[in-house]
Amino acid sequence: MKKVTNRHSISRTLLLAVVLLFSIFNSAYAQEGEEDSSQTEVPADAEEDSEGGSDVQGDVAAGKDLFNSNCAACHKLYKRSTGPALHGVTDKYDKQWLYNWIHNSQAMVQAGDPDAVAIFEEFNKVPMPPYPQFSEEDIDNILAYVEQPKPEPKAPASAEAGGVDKASQGGGGVSTEVILGVLSFVLLLLVVILFLVNKTLTRFAKASGVEVHKREKEKRTPIWKAFVQNQFLVIVVSIVFLLGAAYFAYGYLMQVGVDQGYEPVQPIHYSHRIHAGDNGIDCKYCHSSARVSKHSGIPSLNVCMNCHKSISEVAPETATEEYSKEFYDAEIAKLYDAVGWDVETQSYTGEEKPVKWVRIHNLPDFAYFNHSQHVSVAGIACQNCHGPVEEMEVMRQYAPLTMGWCIECHRETNVKMEGNKYYEKIHEQLSKKYGVEQLTAAQMGALECGKCHY
Ligand code: HEC
Ligand code: HEC
Ligand code: HEC
Ligand code: HEC
Ligand code: HEC
Ligand code: HEC
Repeated sequence: MKKVTNRHSISRTLLLAVVLLFSIFNSAYAQEGEEDSSQTEVPADAEEDSEGGSDVQGDVAAGKDLFNSNCAACHKLYKRSTGPALHGVTDKYDKQWLYNWIHNSQAMVQAGDPDAVAIFEEFNKVPMPPYPQFSEEDIDNILAYVEQPKPEPKAPASAEAGGVDKASQGGGGVSTEVILGVLSFVLLLLVVILFLVNKTLTRFAKASGVEVHKREKEKRTPIWKAFVQNQFLVIVVSIVFLLGAAYFAYGYLMQVGVDQGYEPVQPIHYSHRIHAGDNGIDCKYCHSSARVSKHSGIPSLNVCMNCHKSISEVAPETATEEYSKEFYDAEIAKLYDAVGWDVETQSYTGEEKPVKWVRIHNLPDFAYFNHSQHVSVAGIACQNCHGPVEEMEVMRQYAPLTMGWCIECHRETNVKMEGNKYYEKIHEQLSKKYGVEQLTAAQMGALECGKCHY
């Protein structure tokens, strides 16, 4: 009689464990799925029930591209940057107002539209550039992207990647943390099951009168002696140890030469936050060659003087807790010193002391990278590769600049074909070959070694 109940309890425990395991696997995968779908583009009609702007219809993917290459320099979705946060903007204004604004905001300000004047004043009269080239459909697409529901905050590891899309994030799939979590849970379950089985078996044995054989303490050799005597175990442990060491050594070596986060002190404390952020100066005003050449270049001090002839000190509001107004003013004085500008007489003295900016981004000579190909041809915003520069008080290297980083983006980024005569024919042939509408840079040959090494 007793045996029967016992067997039941074992099988019940096992069954319970299996059911538990399955449900955990399921929920882990379901969560992953949810995360994925919140990341991928939501089709236009799924937009209907999003929190902001219920009547926004448009192609979210196309909108995202347009936003990243035209608006991301000044706008964030959920946070104020040079311009206001754009999420929720369709609740604030009607469609026609937004079309007019984006086509030419300054015209509206000048015409005295009260909303336009209010927002212009609020943002210290930083003018937003006009976009007359956008059709209403283009703008609808951007708005559809902007009004996507806010994604749930993700694991801290990828939080920093924030505004930057795919480029700097790891590949998709089930995250390692979930796998590790599930595995450790399974292990724990196994231990519990073994323990229970052992306990029931002992009870069995007792019930049927079998003496459980107790090992005699005296005869046992100490564990370390047993270990040393067991050659097989020694070899296995050494191999595991060596593999572990090799793994960490490899990881360490791969870090050599990767200068992500490199943030040197510059001869003049030049703040991108103040210039490109607060004052909304376009990156290309200073890094003008990014559009047309291999290098972006650092502006010559003459460019600085276009403004700084008349700006010799910062406004009191510019000072932060970390940097005082006196500090900033002294930095501008350094600029005057370098170009030989005499503030008293408002003239050049002719004594120049060139500023030696410390170079931050630097690929090895054997790798070829071209800014105009990415900025002008592909239409990628600077921030995709250099991060939120407009928030950086001190410039730092944001991306790892490793080969893997280049390759990953080439696999994921579609080439911009529209309006590019040169690509039309290639696109026709290749999209037939791969059977897809959009071609990634990789399919266009951007993974060939010779494109980056020669
Ligand atoms: C050079 C920086 C800059 C760029 C690029 C830019 N904007 Fe703006 N935007 C601003 C500023 C600054 C304001 C605040 C009003 C002002 O000062 O003119 C603004 C305001 C707006 C507003 C009004 C928001 C509100 O809450 O009142 C909308 C909508 C907008 N921008 C959309 C866009 C779109 C869409 C793009 C891309 C096609 C874009 N902007 C590109 C700087 C920019
Ligand atoms: C008013 C001029 C000015 C503007 C506008 C400006 N920069 Fe710069 N930038 C500089 C100067 C000067 C340096 C060198 C000093 C430093 O590194 O802080 C620099 C350095 C950089 C570097 C690092 C160069 C290196 O050594 O590797 C990057 C990347 C960069 N800028 C990107 C941007 C982006 C992106 C924007 C637009 C959001 C921008 N800059 C706007 C003047 C400017
Ligand atoms: C388009 C105009 C413009 C250009 C070009 C420009 N600046 Fe400025 N600069 C400003 C403004 C505006 C401020 C902030 C004034 C304020 O906050 O009241 C400023 C502030 C500064 C400051 C004090 C704050 C800080 O960033 O530490 C320094 C130093 C400075 N600029 C250096 C430079 C240098 C070096 C260059 C050339 C690479 C340059 N500026 C180019 C407009 C400009
Ligand atoms: C596709 C990624 C990518 C984009 C987009 C991009 N950069 Fe760069 N940038 C790089 C890489 C990689 C380097 C290092 C190049 C080297 O060492 O040859 C670099 C270097 C720089 C430098 C240092 C000087 C130089 O030319 O080597 C500046 C300044 C700079 N970028 C500014 C910009 C600005 C401004 C934009 C937007 C107009 C921009 N970058 C867009 C990847 C990018
Ligand atoms: C943010 C995404 C992104 C990153 C990061 C990036 N690229 Fe690209 N790259 C592109 C795109 C998109 C194209 C296709 C441009 C086109 O021709 O329309 C491209 C094209 C190229 C080409 C021309 C390929 C051809 O078929 O002619 C070269 C060379 C190149 N990239 C080198 C690099 C190197 C080197 C790096 C890393 C230092 C890098 N790229 C990082 C997006 C990226
Ligand atoms: C999209 C551009 C790109 C393509 C395509 C590319 N590489 Fe690279 N490669 C780079 C960059 C950038 C570096 C420098 C990375 C660094 O310093 O970490 C690099 C570094 C290397 C290195 C030096 C090892 C190291 O980690 O520093 C070797 C070897 C190499 N590449 C071989 C290849 C081969 C073989 C291919 C073809 C299968 C290839 N690369 C294709 C961009 C590229």
